Amino acid sequence: MNTKGFIFIIFGATGDLSKRKLIPAIYNLLKHGKLEKFHVFGISRRPYSGEKMVDTALEFIEKLDPEPDPGLIKRLKENTTYFSANFTHEQEFAQLKNAIDKLDKTAVYDRIFYLATGSNHFDVISGNLIKTEIAQQKNCKTKVVFEKPFGRDEKSSKKLNDVISETFTEEQTYRIDHYLGKEIVGTISVLRFTNRIFEPIWNNAHIESIQIKLDENIGISERGAYYDTYGAVRDMVQNHMIQLLALLTMEIPDSITGKGLRDRKAQVIKDMVVRDALLGQYRGYKQEKDIPQDSKTDTFAALNLEILNSRWAGVPVFLRTGKFLSKKESKITVKFKKVKCLFDDDYSTEGNILEIRIFPDEGISLYVNTKTPGEKRATQVKLDFCYTCLFGENTPEGYENLLNDVINGDQTTFTRFDELQNAWKVVDPIERIKIYPYEKGSDGPEEMALFNERNNLKWS
Ligand code: BG6
Repeated sequence: MNTKGFIFIIFGATGDLSKRKLIPAIYNLLKHGKLEKFHVFGISRRPYSGEKMVDTALEFIEKLDPEPDPGLIKRLKENTTYFSANFTHEQEFAQLKNAIDKLDKTAVYDRIFYLATGSNHFDVISGNLIKTEIAQQKNCKTKVVFEKPFGRDEKSSKKLNDVISETFTEEQTYRIDHYLGKEIVGTISVLRFTNRIFEPIWNNAHIESIQIKLDENIGISERGAYYDTYGAVRDMVQNHMIQLLALLTMEIPDSITGKGLRDRKAQVIKDMVVRDALLGQYRGYKQEKDIPQDSKTDTFAALNLEILNSRWAGVPVFLRTGKFLSKKESKITVKFKKVKCLFDDDYSTEGNILEIRIFPDEGISLYVNTKTPGEKRATQVKLDFCYTCLFGENTPEGYENLLNDVINGDQTTFTRFDELQNAWKVVDPIERIKIYPYEKGSDGPEEMALFNERNNLKWS
């Protein structure tokens, strides 16, 4: 149990992230005994209340805990205060400062500022925090968490980072990527580096291709204004997908925590180049709330990437993500080359496949060849590890892990600026000349057939 007190200050408190992820994560931290003394301050423009922040989060809390503890919900409500303020106005920070000072007279609570707003507000909020001295306290630690995407391209992210680093040190700065908080994603490094059956063959001599699919069957909900500024490549590829790929392809780090890991990720991202891309937009997108009639924003992206280093040159990497596709599926597939052996004349074998499922059916499967009974033929069978069957449903959720890491000052699962900057360099050159339409509920634009053909690709 952490007996220290924590104040969470959420900017953008009426948004989707606060109700879907942050408040439920705080509930779970309480439930799992990882938080004792705390207070949540929510800030956004529109009239709202602390109670409403918890009430609107309830349906998402119930996804983690079908029967929420009424005592914990009551505590959460009693410890949540909302301010309606325009956070671009310095003078409007005064009431927040007064409330925090009143609650924490001796300034002993650690303060965690969570910027769950578009990155276009990051610099002005950081500046106001300093000007009003809310973020400078002698007795307590101040940490600041920035939601992704960090900037909109390399140039704007660099500018943003320069401003932020005038205010906060790197040790105080947590750039979040919630995929890194998922338990199964944390398994990737352990799987690669602690298993002799994988580590020595994790290279272009043995691996044929890599696929990462983050398909979604939902649309943009109420997030039109945010989404249209970014689109699929900036919302999913630049961060979640490139981070997953970095974990899969980085060189062996000195340790799988802290600096070593972040150095290795930054290094491999630098070697990534996009070879082919196809972008799409679902039909009906321009009729969504807050979307301009002439929007050219991508809601679908399929990419072929190569990693130009001696370990990976020649191995195609395929990424695919999109809104309103046929189903929600987040999956990594590593295809190994076929073994060339004497048997081949008699037995037709397949290359091994390693599948890491993030959603649904969280788990890992390995496909291997076995003899078909009574025949001189191989059959590929699946060796399966089901995460929840073994560890139970109640494993910590991504945001709970990440908030816990912020509380404990562990930056391993947060991205450093050089990683993000290199990732922008990978996606910035993608041409946006043509955005192909696709039907809701499909697997993307019809032109995907050509993309698949020219890249000799079959999606797993
Ligand atoms: C967020 C994106 O980072 O990830 C959303 O902004 C997307 O657009 C979400 O829906 C997907 O996350 P998950 O964990 O549900 O796969």
